[in-house]
Amino acid sequence: MGALLEARGLVKYFAVKKGIRQMFQKGQQFVKAVDGVSFSLERAKVLVLAGESGSGKTTVARLVLRAEDPDEGSIIFDGEDITRYTGSQLKKFRTQVHMVYQDPYASLNPRMKIRDIVMEPLSIHDRTSSREQKEEKVLKALEEVRLPSDIAMRLPHMLSGGQRQRVALARALVMRPALIVADEPVSMLDVSVRGEILGLMHELRQKFGIAYIYITHDLSTARYVGDDLAVMNAGRIVEMGPIDRVLSSPAHPYTQALISAIPDPDSRLKSA
Ligand SMILES: Nc1ncnc2c1ncn2[C@@H]1O[C@H](COP(=O)(O)OP(=O)(O)OP(=O)(O)O)[C@@H](O)[C@H]1O
Ligand SMILES: [Mg+2]
Repeated sequence: MGALLEARGLVKYFAVKKGIRQMFQKGQQFVKAVDGVSFSLERAKVLVLAGESGSGKTTVARLVLRAEDPDEGSIIFDGEDITRYTGSQLKKFRTQVHMVYQDPYASLNPRMKIRDIVMEPLSIHDRTSSREQKEEKVLKALEEVRLPSDIAMRLPHMLSGGQRQRVALARALVMRPALIVADEPVSMLDVSVRGEILGLMHELRQKFGIAYIYITHDLSTARYVGDDLAVMNAGRIVEMGPIDRVLSSPAHPYTQALISAIPDPDSRLKSA
C-alpha cells in the first residue's frame, strides 16, 4: 500500500495588496508562501512541519486540505490525485481529513452546544445514520477524547482551553478520519495540559491509525509526537527526515538555528 498523502511540488503565491508606496511601482508583487514543497506521509505516521512565523506552514496545511488551490503541483491522497476534485468528490475527501486549529477559543462556535459542534460534520456528511445513531457517535467520540458525557449540553465558554481542544479532536474523530492536520494545537494552552493533549493525539493515532501533520515552531514538543520532521523556511522545505536524525545531526544551518532556539536543549532533547 502506498503513502496516505503525497504532496508533489506544491506552489502557492499570494498577491500582495498594494500600499500607497507600491501604487507607483509597476506590476504585481507576490509573496511566495509555498514555493515547491514535496513530502509524503504514511498511514498512522506523524509529519512535523516546523519553521518560523511566515515560513508557509499554514499555507501547506490549507493546500493539503484543499482549503486553498495550489498554483502548481499536486496532492495525492490514498492513491488518488485530489488536486482538482470538485463537488461530491471533494465532499467525500473532506470526510477523511480534518483540521484542528491553534486557538481553541476562536475555533468553536460559541453559540452551539458541544453536542451540536461535534455532530456538525455528521450532519453535513453522514446521510445514512439516524439522529439517534449520530448522537451515539457523538457520545462515543466524547468518550474517546476522555470528556465526561455531561459536557455535551454545555457551551464552549464553560470549558477550559484543554477541554476545547478535546472537543475539536472529537469533532474530527466522529468522521473516523485518516488524517488530522493540527496547526499549533497546543501552543495557546497552559503548559500543564499540553502534554495531555499530545498524549491523547498519540493514543488516537494508535487506536484508529490516524496520521497527523503536526505544525509547530516549537521543536521541543515535536520530538515527542513526530516520526518525520520537515523544516520550512521561506516557502521551502530546507531539511526533512526522521525526527531523531534531524534533531541530533541537523544538516541545514536553518535547522540548527531552530534547534538552538529551544530553551535548554540538552535536557529537553535527551529526556525524550
Ligand atoms: N491569504 C493570504 N493572502 C496573502 N498572503 C498570505 C495569505 N496567507 C498567507 N500569506 C503569506 O504567506 C506567507 C506564509 O504564511 P503562513 O501563514 O503559511 O505561514 P506560517 O508558517 O503558518 O506562519 P505562523 O507560524 O505565523 O503561523 C506569509 O508571508 C503570509 O503573510
Ligand atoms: Mg501558521
